[in-house]
Amino acid sequence: MADLLKKVKEKTGSAYGDVDKVVLAFSGGLDTSVIASLLQDMGKEVITCTLDLGQQGEFKGIEAKSKKIGCKKHYGLETKKEFVKEYLWPGVKANAMYEGNYPLFTALGRPLIAKKLVEIGKKEGAQAVCHGSTGKGNDQVRIDAGVSALSSMKVIVPVRDWGLTRDEEIVYAKEKGLDVKVTKEKPYSVDENLWGRSIEAGPIEFPEQAVPEDAYEWTKPAEKAPDKPSFVDISFEKGIPVEVSIDGTAYKDEVEMLKALTKAAGEHGVGRIEHMEDRTIGFKSREAYEAPAALTILPAHQDLEKYVLTKDELFHKVYLDNLYSDMVYTGKWFSPLRVAVDKFNDEVESAVTGTVRMKLYKGRASVASRKSANALYSHNVATYDKGSSFDQKEGGAFTKLWLMQYSTAYKMKYGKK
Ligand code: ARG
Repeated sequence: MADLLKKVKEKTGSAYGDVDKVVLAFSGGLDTSVIASLLQDMGKEVITCTLDLGQQGEFKGIEAKSKKIGCKKHYGLETKKEFVKEYLWPGVKANAMYEGNYPLFTALGRPLIAKKLVEIGKKEGAQAVCHGSTGKGNDQVRIDAGVSALSSMKVIVPVRDWGLTRDEEIVYAKEKGLDVKVTKEKPYSVDENLWGRSIEAGPIEFPEQAVPEDAYEWTKPAEKAPDKPSFVDISFEKGIPVEVSIDGTAYKDEVEMLKALTKAAGEHGVGRIEHMEDRTIGFKSREAYEAPAALTILPAHQDLEKYVLTKDELFHKVYLDNLYSDMVYTGKWFSPLRVAVDKFNDEVESAVTGTVRMKLYKGRASVASRKSANALYSHNVATYDKGSSFDQKEGGAFTKLWLMQYSTAYKMKYGKK
C-alpha cells in the first residue's frame, strides 16, 4: 500500500498541490475504488458521482461502496431520460454509427458524464474532476474535452497520469480491504447503457479468434433464436421514436421502450457486432458489442428517411451523418460544428414522421413495411399498372435534355476513333 502511494506521490510531485476537493466519476469497480482511496491518502476530499445511464449492473450498492472507502459525499444521479433525449435521440437523427458498425453508445454517454462532473464540481467548489480512463482509450479524450469546454477545472486521470497497473491496484485494494470483485472467470472489460453493451479485453483482443459465446449477455446466438418471428412497429415523430410496439404491446416511455426492445430483439439474436475499430488515439482495436435496440431502431429510421426525404437531402445527409459519428467518437461533442449539424438535422428531420414495421428473425432486424403521411412515394406515379397519372411520353423529352451535356461530351472525347 505504501508502495503505491509512494509511486503516486513521486509521479504527481506538486502538480495537484492546489487541489483539495475532487469530484470522481465512480463506478465502484477496481480502478475507481483504488483511485478514490489513493486520493484520500493524499489528503484530498473525494466526492463520488455515478450516473444511471441504464447500465444493468447494481446501481444502489455503489453509494455504500463510496462510503466504505471513506468518501464524504456521493451523488447517484438518475440520468436515463436526459441521456435518451439529449444524446441518443440526436444520435438517431444522425444515424450515428461509427465506421458503419458501432452505434456509439459509450461515446454518447461521455459528454453527459463530463457535464455532470462539472455541475457537481462547481456546486461543491472542487478544483478538479477525476475519472478512471486509461491512456489508451477514447474516453479520456471525450471526458477531458467536455470538462475543458464547460469549466476551468483540472482533470486528474490517475490510471493514465500515474501509470497504475492492474496488478498493483489489486495488491493495494487487498491491503486496504476495498470491496472490489476481481474475478478470473470472465476476463472481459464491459461498459453498458440503454443503447448497448461493449465487451473488450481478454480473448477479444485476438482478432483471428472468434468472440467467445460467454462474452454475450444480451443476445442469443441466431441459431438458438425462436423459429417464429416478432414484429416491431416503431413510430417516429420528427426523426425520433415516440412509440415502439412489440408483437402488439406498446411502449411510449423512452426508457421503457429501449429496455423492452433490447430484450425482444436480443432474444431473436439481433444486435451482435464484431468490429475492427480505429481508435481516436490512432491504433486499431477489436471490439465486440451487443446493441439490440440500436440495431432495430437505426435501420427503421433510415428507411423512413428514404420514404420522406428528397434525394438531395439523403445524399448530403450521408456525408453529415458520417461527420457526426466521427465527431461523437473522437470527443468533439462540445464543438460548434456538432451543434450546427444537430440544428441541420432538426430542420431536415421535421418531415421524418411515420411508422416502420421491423421483422426480428434469426439474428436480423429487417424492414417489413412502412407508412407515413409525409411519404414522397406515390403509387399512382410509380405503378406499372394501368391508370397511372404519369404520362410516359414526357419521359422522352426529359432524357433528351437531362443527358444532352453528357452525350455531347462523351462523343467529343471518345467518339471519333
Ligand atoms: N470502443 C468503444 C468506444 O470507444 C467502447 C469502449 C467501451 N469501453 C470503455 N472502457 N469505456 O466508444
